[in-house]
Amino acid sequence: MQAKSEDSIVSQRLAGRLALVTGASAGIGRACALALAREGAEVIVTGRRKDRLDALAEAVPGHRAHFRVVPGDLADSSFVRRLIDAASAADILVNNAGILTYAPFLEIKPEECDAMFRVNVLAPMHLCQGVGAAMAARRRGHVIMITSLGARTVNRFGVAYAATKHALSAIAKGMRLELKAFGVRVTEIAPGMVDTGIRESSTHPDVVAAIEGRKFAPLRPDDVADAVIYATTADDNCSADLIELRPREA
Ligand SMILES: NC(=O)c1ccc[n+]([C@@H]2O[C@H](COP(=O)([O-])OP(=O)(O)OC[C@H]3O[C@@H](n4cnc5c(N)ncnc54)[C@H](OP(=O)(O)O)[C@@H]3O)[C@@H](O)[C@H]2O)c1
Repeated sequence: MQAKSEDSIVSQRLAGRLALVTGASAGIGRACALALAREGAEVIVTGRRKDRLDALAEAVPGHRAHFRVVPGDLADSSFVRRLIDAASAADILVNNAGILTYAPFLEIKPEECDAMFRVNVLAPMHLCQGVGAAMAARRRGHVIMITSLGARTVNRFGVAYAATKHALSAIAKGMRLELKAFGVRVTEIAPGMVDTGIRESSTHPDVVAAIEGRKFAPLRPDDVADAVIYATTADDNCSADLIELRPREA
């Protein structure tokens, strides 16, 4: 499929909506932020690399107003609190930011495991509580959790990462149960391998060999963004609870 042009606003199905996308400086989050802006949403974009967020704001010429840049580190709980304040009016929350270190279970460092739990589980859980409370008060909102097929299975070298994604999936399911009475929809999007830089921090030789031995084409970030747009533009009465995306030959 052709890559999407970055310079067009294709339709306005989300005009008037405010979205927060975490991890918007790269990969899947960047694609989601652009897709939401193309649909007319105003998008709060966050990540640590402000220069990349600023560049994103220039990626849709003539439509800079669609982006609000709020840079920061999700491992820092005071930043998470500031982000909740900045996004208190958000209609859509895309919990996308995540990190991944693959390594044998007996060799992965405790600090690498801790970092994954902070960014992949604790930060999105706290964001869901803060932004979700504001959505529940307004009786309207949509939370998207980008989990992984690793939320369903566990692969060699991916124990800690899979544990974070299983946890995030449990949070999505539980939030849906408790918040549907308040008009808040929760969609879990669980992709298989996507072509991004997320594996660059996994340098263990066994992991590098396993990744290089892969025999299928990964998904594109736009494939995941398409699922976000499907879920957020679905009819009010339709809740897309779970979307699993698998590279066809995987
Ligand atoms: N790629 C895949 O194969 C795949 C498959 C299934 C699920 N996923 C999930 O999809 C999500 C996005 O992954 P990706 O592949 O797009 O990864 P990526 O290209 O590495 O992008 C990760 C994003 O998260 C942000 N981030 C990381 N640590 C952060 C921190 N401490 N504070 C704030 N932002 C932080 C990064 O921004 P800064 O570096 O600027 O902070 C970046 O924007 C993750 O949750 C991942 O687990 C990915």
